Amino acid sequence: MKPLSIFDDWDNVSAQPEDSAANDAISILASMPIDAEHKRVVNGRADINQLAPFKYPWAWSFFLNANSNHWTPLEISMAQDVHDYQHKLNPAEQHLFQNVLAYLTTSDILAMRNIGLAVMEKMSAPELQIYQARQVYEEALHTWTYQHCIETLGLDQREIYNRYRVVPEIHAKIALANRRLNGVLQANRPLSDRDALHDFALAYLFFAAVFEGCWFYNGFSPIFALQRRGLMKGTAEQLQYIMRDEVLHCAFGIRVVKQLLEEENLQLDPSAIKLMWEEAEAAEVAYAGYILREPILGYNATLHIEQFRYIANRRARQLGWPEPFPGAGNVLPWLDEQANLRKEKNFFETRVTEYQVGGALVWE
Ligand SMILES: [Fe+2]
Ligand SMILES: [Fe+2]
Repeated sequence: MKPLSIFDDWDNVSAQPEDSAANDAISILASMPIDAEHKRVVNGRADINQLAPFKYPWAWSFFLNANSNHWTPLEISMAQDVHDYQHKLNPAEQHLFQNVLAYLTTSDILAMRNIGLAVMEKMSAPELQIYQARQVYEEALHTWTYQHCIETLGLDQREIYNRYRVVPEIHAKIALANRRLNGVLQANRPLSDRDALHDFALAYLFFAAVFEGCWFYNGFSPIFALQRRGLMKGTAEQLQYIMRDEVLHCAFGIRVVKQLLEEENLQLDPSAIKLMWEEAEAAEVAYAGYILREPILGYNATLHIEQFRYIANRRARQLGWPEPFPGAGNVLPWLDEQANLRKEKNFFETRVTEYQVGGALVWE
């Protein structure tokens, strides 16, 4: 009988024993706990149904942190927003508000599909999959949140949800992400293939570092700019909760990709990374030009684009890469604070139920 290893398929091996001694050895080995060192991000062969011992305890911490940020959109009052939207926002501000929501709501469905369909099933350690299962739920919750805002404000849902298909500047960002998602959804490209592995790592990185880490992170800024003037505060509060999730999604994705590159001794093609940043910037510039075709008080396309570049530099540093946009300035210094609800001193007073959960969260 051939020698047995921890990597053997125990269900099949155990069904075909040739002698009792071997059978006993199989039983002993098969009943032993897995070795954490046999776990891998992808292509692992340790039993995926055994959570512990952990190889990636940080992934479990992400899951615990994620559960410290829970809400539903129904808990946040939108009454003042209805009045603000109808009576206080000027046409340029209404245009901005509508299109930010139109973009975000389509994006979150794409984010959910990316994690749920393209990423999670490729992970071979349960602690990674468990956080991503939570992330899938959170993306659905975000979609519900935008839908609740759109419906509450009386916007035409048919028209708003179709906007990404008819506005080129919104469509371009969605199409770019769809292209990267579809590139790794092909069933005939197993990750044992190095080119497929490279493309998967790059796609996951794009979603974590660009799509969530830059486009989402900075994508909330226009609404926060209104909030800073006392407008649309309910919507902004909803987005603050979403932003806290997205910060974790970004940080988790970057951590997973770094781990993957290390385990697989894989290096991403510098020209592919350069192209990723260039495409992301070009799409963001066009988008900002559309949603902010007219500036609003305290916010304009130039600020939006510059902050995108500043955040992109931060993501690159998290990855240990050179900054793609050297010298970009932190022109919205208040943006990072939006992820920290503890700085909103009256925040908890506005809620029906007081949650004491924010203190558990650790930001970048
Ligand atoms: Fe999301
Ligand atoms: Fe996300």
